[in-house]
Amino acid sequence: MLSLEEVKQSLESAGQSHVLQFLPELCEEDRDSFLQELSQLDLKGLKDHCEGAAKAAASPSASLDQHLEPVPPQVIGSVKKSDRNSLTAWENEGLLKISENRVGVLLLAGGQGTRLGVQYPKGMYNVGLPSNKTLYQIQAERIYKIQELADAKHGSKCTVPWYIMTSEFTLAPTEKFFKKNNCFGLKPSDIIMFEQRMIPAVTFDGKVILQGKGKIAMAPDGNGGLYQALVDNKVLEDMKKRGVEYLHVYCVDNILVKMADPVFIGFCVSKGADCGAKVVEKAYPAEPVGVVCRVQGISQVVEYSEMQQETAELRGPGGELVYSAGNICNHFFTRAFLQDVAENFQGQLKQHVAIKKVPFVDTYGNQVKPTKPNGIKMEKFVFDVFPFSRKFVAFEVLREDEFSPLKNADGAATDSPTTARNSLMAQHCRWVLAAGAKLLDEHGNVLPPKAGISAADNSPAQCEISPLVSYFGEGLEPLLRGRTLPTPFILDEKLAKELQAL
Ligand code: UTP
Repeated sequence: MLSLEEVKQSLESAGQSHVLQFLPELCEEDRDSFLQELSQLDLKGLKDHCEGAAKAAASPSASLDQHLEPVPPQVIGSVKKSDRNSLTAWENEGLLKISENRVGVLLLAGGQGTRLGVQYPKGMYNVGLPSNKTLYQIQAERIYKIQELADAKHGSKCTVPWYIMTSEFTLAPTEKFFKKNNCFGLKPSDIIMFEQRMIPAVTFDGKVILQGKGKIAMAPDGNGGLYQALVDNKVLEDMKKRGVEYLHVYCVDNILVKMADPVFIGFCVSKGADCGAKVVEKAYPAEPVGVVCRVQGISQVVEYSEMQQETAELRGPGGELVYSAGNICNHFFTRAFLQDVAENFQGQLKQHVAIKKVPFVDTYGNQVKPTKPNGIKMEKFVFDVFPFSRKFVAFEVLREDEFSPLKNADGAATDSPTTARNSLMAQHCRWVLAAGAKLLDEHGNVLPPKAGISAADNSPAQCEISPLVSYFGEGLEPLLRGRTLPTPFILDEKLAKELQAL
C-alpha cells in the first residue's frame, strides 16, 4: 500500500487533489480502506485517463461514412442462404472439435445492467418462463447438452469449459449463486470465473467522481476489458493447459444464445478464420445496433451513432439494406488470436464514451443522485479487436432463432423480460410443431400450425423445452410426433423419459 504522502503527490500531479477532500472526516478504518483503494489505482495513468475522457466526451464521434463498404459476400456465411449439406458439414466439424475438448465458451458478465435496474447480476434474472429458470441456468444446461451431443456423436467424454468474466459488482454474487445451485450440474472445476478491471468515472471537466467521502465512483472498463482481464488472471494459460483452441464469446443477456454453437464454430474453423462474428439482418435502418462492415478495407463494427442516416438507409438492387449485418455480440476467436491481441494489440484498443448518471458527493459532502447524466465512463468493446484479425468471417443467423437480448425493464417496447420470454416460448412452439405435435391453447383449442412462427408473436403459448432435452430443436420428433399437448407444456428430462417409455 502507498503512503498518504505518495498518494497525495500522485493525485496532485494528476490534477485530482479533490479526491482527498473529505479524508479528515473519515474514521481510521475508512481512511485505510480508501488509501488501499487509491493505491490500487493506476495513478500514473490517471491524468491521461481523466483528460482523455473529458476530451472524448466533448468531441462528437466522427462520421465514417465515406470510408465504409459492406463486408464482401465471400466473407459472410448464412444459415438462410446455405444448403442443408453445408450446414450439416459445419455442424459436424464443430461437434468434432467440441468432442476433442478444443472448444470453450466465454461469457461476458461484468456489466452493471443499469437499464434492467436490478441490484444483482443479470445472469441471475428470471424472465418468468414456466420453469422459472434464470439466464445462468439456461446457459449452464445448454453447455451440458452440447457436451452430451458431441459425446454421443463421437463416443467421447468431453468438456466445454465455461469462462465467466465478472467485475467487482458481479463476481461475489455470481460465485454464491453458482455454489447454491451446485453449478447447475456442471463440474465446478470447469467453470472459471475471473474479474475485469474497474476504472474511475469522470465529470465532464475531467475530475474523478467521488461516490462517497472515502470512495471513488468506479465502473468496469467495458466488455473489451476482456483482453486485459485474460492477461491479469492468466486465463490464456488455463485455456492452453486444457487444450482449448477455439472460443465462443457471448453476452449474458441473449436468452436465445447457442452456446458453443457447432454450426458457427464449424463454419469459422473450416474457413480458417481466427476471428468471427455472428450477425442478424438489421430489422430497420434506424435500429440502434452496430453493423459489421469494412472501414477503409478493414472489417470492424461501426456503431449506429457513427453512421449517417442516409448511409444506414442505403439499399441494394433487391431492396435489402446495404449495411444490414447487425452485430449481436456472439464471437468466435482462436486462442492464438486472443494471445496475439493480449501481447501485441492491447494498448491500441479504442476507448468509447458512455455518458451516465453517476451518484456522487458534492463539495459540501451531500450525497446526490443525479437526475441528468453527469459522468463519463470510458469503455472498451469486445469487438474492437476485429481489425487485428488476419482472417475475419461473419455468419448470418436468424434473429428469431438466436437473438433476443434482455436489456430493459418491463414496460419498454423492446428487449425486456417479456420480449425475451416470448421469443424463447415462440421458438419452442415452433420446435414442437416441427416435431409433428399439436399444441392446445388454454381453452383447449388447437393452435394454428404457424403458432410461434413469428418472433413478433407477443403471446405465444406457454411452451418450454428444457435445454437438457433439446439444444436446438433436435431429438424431439420421437418424443412428440402425433401428440396433442395442452399448455402450459414444459418438457423437462423427467417428462422426456416418460414419453420415451410410452
Ligand atoms: P451492455 O452494454 O448491454 O451493458 O453489455 P449492461 O451492463 O449489461 O447493461 P447496461 O448498459 O448497464 O444497462 C453487454 C454485455 O457485456 C457485458 C455485460 O455483462 C453484457 O453481457 N459487459 C459490459 C461486461 O462484461 N463488462 C462491462 O464492463 C460491460
